[in-house]
Amino acid sequence: MIRPVFVFVVLLCLTIVTAWSAPGDTHIVIETRRTALVIRVDKDQNPTIVHLGQRLDRTDEYARIPGNGKRGEDYTGIYNSVYTPAGGRNLLEPAIQVTHADGNPSLDLRYVRHERKSAEEGTVLTAVYLKDPQYPFEVTLYYKAYQNEDVIEQWSTIRHTEKKNVTLYKYASANLYIPAENYYLTHFHGDWANEMNPTEELLSEGIKMLDTKLGTRADLFQPPSFMVALNQPAEEDKGEVMAGTLAWSGNYQIAFEVDPLHNLRLTAGINPYASAYSLTPGKEFTTPAFLFTYSNSGKGTASRNLHRWARKFRIPQGQGNRLTLLNNWEATYFDFNEEKLTALFKDGKKLGVDLFLLDDGWFGNKYPRNDDRAGLGDWQENIKKLPHGLGHLVKEAEGAGIKFGIWLEPEMVSPKSELYEKHPDWVLKLPNRQEYYFRNQLVLDLTNPKVQEFVYGIVDDVVTKNPTLSYIKWDCNAVIYNAFSATNPNPSHLYVDYVQGLYKVMERLRTKYPTLPMMLCSGGGGRVDYGALRYFTEFWPSDNTDGLERVFIQWNYSYFFPAIATCNHVTDWGKQPIKFRTDVAMMGKVGYDIVVSKLDEKELEFSQQALKTYEQIKTVVWQGDLFRLSSPYTSDIASLMYVSESRDRAVWFSYLTKNRYKAGSTAPIRLKGLDPAKNYSVRELNVYPGTKSAINTETTVYSGNYLMTIGFNPNVDTRRTSVVLELAESK
Ligand code: DGJ
Repeated sequence: MIRPVFVFVVLLCLTIVTAWSAPGDTHIVIETRRTALVIRVDKDQNPTIVHLGQRLDRTDEYARIPGNGKRGEDYTGIYNSVYTPAGGRNLLEPAIQVTHADGNPSLDLRYVRHERKSAEEGTVLTAVYLKDPQYPFEVTLYYKAYQNEDVIEQWSTIRHTEKKNVTLYKYASANLYIPAENYYLTHFHGDWANEMNPTEELLSEGIKMLDTKLGTRADLFQPPSFMVALNQPAEEDKGEVMAGTLAWSGNYQIAFEVDPLHNLRLTAGINPYASAYSLTPGKEFTTPAFLFTYSNSGKGTASRNLHRWARKFRIPQGQGNRLTLLNNWEATYFDFNEEKLTALFKDGKKLGVDLFLLDDGWFGNKYPRNDDRAGLGDWQENIKKLPHGLGHLVKEAEGAGIKFGIWLEPEMVSPKSELYEKHPDWVLKLPNRQEYYFRNQLVLDLTNPKVQEFVYGIVDDVVTKNPTLSYIKWDCNAVIYNAFSATNPNPSHLYVDYVQGLYKVMERLRTKYPTLPMMLCSGGGGRVDYGALRYFTEFWPSDNTDGLERVFIQWNYSYFFPAIATCNHVTDWGKQPIKFRTDVAMMGKVGYDIVVSKLDEKELEFSQQALKTYEQIKTVVWQGDLFRLSSPYTSDIASLMYVSESRDRAVWFSYLTKNRYKAGSTAPIRLKGLDPAKNYSVRELNVYPGTKSAINTETTVYSGNYLMTIGFNPNVDTRRTSVVLELAESK
C-alpha cells in the first residue's frame, strides 16, 4: 500500500526540482500545511533564507522573492545566512564560531547538497549539508516540518576531520531571518513563585538577548519561550506571529537582532557563556532543537499549533490519560509519619483522587531529612518516619483503593549527607573556593558516568522495589553554583555535558519505564522546556498556587504548553474560595495539596463532586483546542475555553481578576472555535452546594453562530468570582 505521506514527500521533491527558476539558484522549500521556510542557494553556494511565513500557492514563485527583504545593501551578502559563520566576512551575530585545529579563527559554510529523509508519519525532514571549502569541517542543518501542526523543529550537527580538536565557541541550533516593518517581542521573566510574567517590547536596531546561566533551573528567571509579532503587536486572533522555544534544559541564548536593513535575525541555541566546546575529529556534536510555529491569525493559532504538536509528538502519553492526585507537601511539609500519611491517603480516597503523592522528607537516617538542610542523596526510608518502609505504605494505599507516587530529587545532594561524605568528588564544586548553596544544597556532577549510574539507580531501585509505584515527582531545587567537575577533563564542557548527562539518564529510564507518569518540577517552574518534556508527562508550573495568581501563571504557560501537561493543585494559598481554586485547577491536570479532613462539609461535598465532573470534562480540556476570550491583563476577567476536536463539546472558564466595585462580565463574551451550524446547550458546572446557578435557569439552546457573533454572559461578578460552563451539542 502506498502511504499518503510518501506520495506527499515525492510530490514535494518533484516540486523542488522545478523551483530552481532563478538562473543558478537552488531553492530549498520547507513547508507545512500553512507555513514555508525557503532557503536560496546562489551560484557561489551561499545558503540564505529568503522567506519565513505563509506558504505560497505556487512553489515556483518562491524564486521571485527578493533576498534581504530588498531593503538596501547587504555588504556581506550573508546578513540572511541560513547559519551565519563567524570570522570571515560576517559583520553580525553569528550562529557558529570556531577555531580550527591550525588556529584559524574563521569559518566559511557553503552549500553542498540537501535531501529529504523519511521521518515520522505526518512529518518531512530536510537535511541541508554545508561545508567549509578550505577545511574538512561540516555542518548539517535539519528541519523537521510537522505538516498538520504547522510546527518546524530545527537543529544542527557539527563535525570535522581536522588533524586535532576544533574549538566551538558558539554553536546555535537555529538561525532565522524575517523581514517585517516592526517586531514586537513578548518574552517572560520571573523567579520562585512568580513565574512567567510577560513583557512585550518593540525591538529596535541592535540585539535583544534572552538568556540564562543558571545551569539546571535554566528558566527560573527567563524561560526559553517567546513570541515575536510582525508589523503590529499580535492579538489573540489577528496578526502575524512566530512562537518559538528552545528544547534545552540548560543555559541558552536567544538573540533577536534587528540588522542594518531593519530585518530580524534570530539565533537560538545553547548559551556560549563558559561553554567553549572542544570537538574531537570524527565526532559529531548535535545541538538541541529549536521549535517554532508561524501564524498569521494571532497568538491563539500559534499556541494551538504547539499544543497539538506537543500532545502528538513530544510529551509521553500526550494523548493519553493522567492521574488526579493528593500531595502531602503543603499538608505536612517535613513533619509526618506513617499514621499521618495513612490518614491523608484514606482522605484522598474519600475525596476521590486517583493517587497519593508522598513528597519531600521521607528519607535519610544518619542525616534525617527533617528540613531542607540535610539528607538529600540518602535515598533510604527514614526509619523513624516510615518504620515499615515504602513498600508497606504503597500496599496500604492500594488496599485503601488509591495509587501511590513518590517525590525524588535525584540530581542533588545536601552537604550534610552520607552521599557527600562518601563521594565528595561526585559534587559540582570548585577547588580553593568556599561552597555556595542554593536551598542549602549542591548539584551532583551529572557529567560523570558514575553519577549518571547513581542517579538512574535512585529511580530504578525505588520502582524495582515497589513495582506498583505509579508516579514520580522529579524535583530540582538548586542552580549550578561552583561550576566545576572534578572528573570532567574539559571544564568548559560542564554546562553542556550536565544536560546531556541528565538526558542520558532520562532516556534510560524512559526506555525501561515508558509509561510511568513523571512530573517535571524545579522548585516550581524552574525547568519547563520541551527538551525535558520529552521524558515527563507533566510539569509543575509554580509553587505559587494562589488561585488568582495561578490564573495569570497558567495563562502565560498556555501560550506554549498544553493543558494535559500543566499540573494545577488546589491548596490553601491565597484568599480565594475553594470553588475558585478548584475551577482554576481544572484548566489543566488537577491535584490537591490540602488536609482533606479540614474541609468543612460543603467544601468536601463540592470537591468530591468537582472531581466527578472533572472526569466527565477532562478529555475536552486535555485534548481540546484552547481559545482565549478575555485577557486578565486588559479586562476585569480572564476567560478561556477548550473545544473538542469535533466541536460538539466545550468547557468555558471565567474568573474575576479585579475586585473594583462593579467589576465583572458586564456584557456577553463572544465564544470561539464552535461550529456555527451546531446548536449548543449551556450548563453551569461546579455550582457550590447551597447556591443556585444564574445560568441553569436558561433552558434555551444557542447556535454556535449566535454564541460566536453575539456571545453569552457568564455573569461573573464579585459574588460569582469564577464560573465554569459546559457547552454540549444539542441535536
Ligand atoms: C519544591 C517543589 O516545587 C515543591 O512542590 C515541593 O516538592 C518541595 N520542593 C519539596 O522540597
